[in-house]
Formats: sequence, C-alpha cells, structure tokens
Amino acid sequence: SAPATRTATGVETGAPLTARAQQEKYLTTSTGVRLRDTDHSLKAGERGPTLLQDHHLREKITHFDHERIPERVVHARGAGAHGVFVGYGTADAICRAAFLREGAETPTFVRFSTVLGSRGSADTVRDTRGFATKFYTPEGNFDLVGNNIPVFFIQDGIKFPDVIHAGKPHPDREIPQAQSAHDTFWDFVSLHTEAQHHTMWNMSDRGIPRSYRMMEGFGVHTFRVENAAGETSLVKFHWKPQLGVHSLTWEEAQMISGMDPDFHRRDLYDAIESGAYPAWELGLQVFPDNPEQVFEGIDLLDPTKIVPEELAPVQPVGLMVLTANPTNFFAETEQVAFHVGHLVPGIDATDDPLVQARLFSYVDTQLTRLGGPNFNQLPVNRPHSEVNDMLRDGFHQHAVHAGVAPYRPNSLDGGCPFQAGAEVDGSFEHLAVRVAEGTKVRAQPASYDDHFSQVRLFWLSMSRVEQEHIIRAYAFELGKCYDQAIKERQLQCLANIDPVLCEEVATGLGLPAPSPTIPLLDPAPSPALSQVGEAWPPD
Ligand code: HEM
Repeated sequence: SAPATRTATGVETGAPLTARAQQEKYLTTSTGVRLRDTDHSLKAGERGPTLLQDHHLREKITHFDHERIPERVVHARGAGAHGVFVGYGTADAICRAAFLREGAETPTFVRFSTVLGSRGSADTVRDTRGFATKFYTPEGNFDLVGNNIPVFFIQDGIKFPDVIHAGKPHPDREIPQAQSAHDTFWDFVSLHTEAQHHTMWNMSDRGIPRSYRMMEGFGVHTFRVENAAGETSLVKFHWKPQLGVHSLTWEEAQMISGMDPDFHRRDLYDAIESGAYPAWELGLQVFPDNPEQVFEGIDLLDPTKIVPEELAPVQPVGLMVLTANPTNFFAETEQVAFHVGHLVPGIDATDDPLVQARLFSYVDTQLTRLGGPNFNQLPVNRPHSEVNDMLRDGFHQHAVHAGVAPYRPNSLDGGCPFQAGAEVDGSFEHLAVRVAEGTKVRAQPASYDDHFSQVRLFWLSMSRVEQEHIIRAYAFELGKCYDQAIKERQLQCLANIDPVLCEEVATGLGLPAPSPTIPLLDPAPSPALSQVGEAWPPD
C-alpha cells in the first residue's frame, strides 16, 4: 500500500487516486476488494431474480446513477488545456505580482467556452466565447475570467440573471439552442440599450471565431494594480493570439455546426496533440489611478465601454503557451472552478458594479455545481502554493487536518505568531483606495447613460466587407423574431447607431427604417455599402 502523504493542511491517507485506472491487473470495488466478475449480477439461479445482496451490482449502478453533476448555469460548453505563462518583467514598474516578473514560469489551465448553449451544443454558433485562465502562481491562484469580446451586455451585475434568462432558450419551447435568433434576446437588448455594444460585437465576425486559438481575450473590467513602491494604476487585461484573429463566415459556421459540432474542441485538442502549441501574449492597457477613474472621458468602471488602443496601447507583459491536453475531461475541464475573486498580491478588483456582483456569484454557483465547499481541493483547482487555512469539514473533505486549534491566535498548536493587522511578507491586501462618499442609492452615474457612441465607433471602424457581414447577421437573427414590435424597437436602436446600418437591416427585414432619436455623436458618413461585395439583400 502507498505511504501516507503529508500536506500543508494535514495528512492524506491511502493510495493515490490516479492508481485506480482500468489498466490495473485486478478490478476492485471502490473499497479495494478484488472482483472476479463484473458482467453477471448475482441471481437466485441462472434464470432467477437478481438478489439485493449483490453489493457489487449496487455499487456499480448507484455510482453510475450519480455520474452527472449540474452543468454550469452559463458557459456550460467548453474545452480546456494546460499551459505555461512566462513573464517578461515589463510590468514590474506598475505591478508587483510575482508571476509577471521577468522569466517567471507559471503553470496555467485555460477553459474556452460558449456562453448560452448547453453542454452538448455546437461549437460554432454565434455567441460570445469565454476565455478563463487559472495561473497557479507561487503567491496563490490568480484567475483571469474573461471573454473574447471586450465589453459586456450590462453595467450592473444585478441584471445578470435577466440578460441570461433572455438569452437562454425560451422557457416554453426550450429553443433556440445557443444562438441569438429569438424574441427574448432581442426584447432584452432593445429595452436595455446598454447591451447594444456587446450585441454588435456578437453580430460581427467576432461572434463566430474560426478557432479558440485565433481569438483575443479580454478581462473586460478595469483592475487596480500596485507596484513594489505601493503606487497604484488602473489596467485592462488583453490576450493577443500569436496566430492572429480569424473568423468563420456565417455559411461555414452553419455547415460546420451540422457536420462537426465539436469543431473548436477538436481543433484545440488536435493542435496541441500535434505539437502546434497555441500561444497568446498577455498585454495591459495602463491608465493613471485618478479619483474619477476616467480616462480621456471614458468611464473606466463602465464595462460596456472600451478604451481604444490608439489612446492606450496594449503593452506586452508575458506569453502563455498551451502545451498539454487534459487527461480526463470531467476531472479537469468540467471540475475547474474559476473565480474573479482569485486575486494575488498586487492585483485588485475595482468598484465596477458588474465585477462586484461577479465576486459573489462564482463561489456561490460552485457550491451547488461542485457539491459543497471543498472544491478547491480538487486537483485542477488546488493551488501550487502552500495552503494553510482554517476551513474545516464539509462535504467531500479530502484533507485530514492535524492539530486541535483551527483558530488564531492559539496557544495549543505550536504558538501561531499571527496577529491581526501585522505585516506578512507576500500577503494579499485589498488596495487601500478611497471609497466614494454618498448616500446609499440604487442608481448609477450619468456617464453610464451613453449607450450608442462606442457602438457607432465600432461600426465605423469596420471594413466594408465586415459591415456587410454585420448587416446580414442582424437581418438573419432579427428575421427569426416572431414579434414585430421587437424588430421595430431594435431597428430604432440601429438608427441611433448609424442610419445606413439601420436602412440595410430594415431592407433585409422588409420593414421601414426609422430615423435616429438622438444626435449621432460622430458625424462621419458611413461608407456606401452598395459599392462593394455582393448586393444586399441577396436575390
Ligand atoms: C462563468 C466570464 C459576467 C456569473 C463564466 C465563465 C467565463 C465568464 C469565462 C466560464 C468559466 C469556466 O470556463 O468555467 C464572464 C465575463 C463577464 C461575466 C467576462 C463580464 C465581464 C458575469 C456576471 C455574473 C456571472 C455579471 C453574475 C453576476 C457566472 C457564473 C458562471 C460564469 C455563475 C458559472 C461558473 C461555474 O459554474 O463555475 N463567466 N462572466 N458572470 N459566470 Fe461569468
């Protein structure tokens, strides 16, 4: 039998779990008793009924009956891989996190995902993609839980259940699966117009990536970082793929959905298996940490806004290469638990009301999804740094904790010099920033009311071919709506973004184009779409 192993939190006993693979010489029960036959149940005679006393039958069937856990409430479909991140040291001047130091090598686990589809849905649907990275740093786990789109649908996390309810299949029909072609989605985004920016990214080619290997990733929120001298800056995280950003055409995406629903999952697995390791450079946009948390007139706490790279270039700080596929999909890709609150010394969240709600939501959902409070003991979630917590007991507790005094200070377990408030080298501190003064209110700043100018900026930055793709996507998806009023309300939103866009989509839908109800902030004319590409709408 294997020797007992000591851990920071206590003693683990028994054989390592990985030894229990089907390749071993003997099949055993889960309690290690060898079995001779696993094909025939114990019966009262060859043709008789099966006996309740057949404990092997009961164990085998019972365990099978409980193999499934709930899928994630969002991002249920995904694919993961192991990698390594190497810091360039270029972030030292602004951030003291150890994993960013020059030459520091940090193991990572990444999970890419779609947002709305269920676990068995197709990979190439039009949707946002998740890009979640766990860095197993020497200072504890840092999770960068981002998407392939730099803005989000809502400005306040309290609306998250609403936007997801609107995007998931209709409650009565449970269709459509994982695409934005339905009434509730367009009802929501045309009523909550802050969603228009994210929606246009979805309708663009970014909504149908060619490969996970060819996607950008964004931390979306602004984060606060601190350097060794205690000076803080505000940053946005960006992943830039070494293979460049590429998309499918809509026709390709549709066909592949039918022919190979596992297209992105297969692509990632095959690339890694063949040694074509995908790589991303991590970069930062850096802004001064001013009390307003505004940069060039852009509210850095509003997650529906980007800061154009012309105003704040992305500065490379490290490289991640994915080098190994998971050994077991369930153990790793399914059981991995990301959390925006997994922060390391030198990195902190801001008061963005979206990230504030996320700080609560991830652990909360994982308590149900992973069956209790001990999921950070699962192999894929375990930090590579020492763990010495006072968390005890609970479902699926794997550590055998030593000692009798899980409280501090104590005089029974060897002294424990810890004192509240004392300086501890390398410890995490929430950065001591001033909190805005005010009265408790359910409200948001006026800067959050501009829902259209950056959508217009995005639209005007597109090439003509890209604009045609966007028009077709809106016309296709809105064309699936049953409710005329919803289509008209969304056309009104498009008119407030760009009159040419609105007209072309309206033509595709066979509806009149409304006029803008707000002044268009940028008077630059849209390119005349009819000058290039195929005529729209198609004959
Ligand atoms: C899952 C990103 C907003 C709640 C995820 C995942 C990603 C992600 C990448 C999948 C993680 C994985 O692969 O396991 C984002 C981004 C957001 C955002 C970039 C906005 C900037 C929110 C908000 C909430 C939320 C506002 C709730 C208030 C959840 C939940 C899960 C999840 C409950 C499932 C987690 C699990 O079961 O382990 N999100 N999300 N997200 N997100 Fe978000």
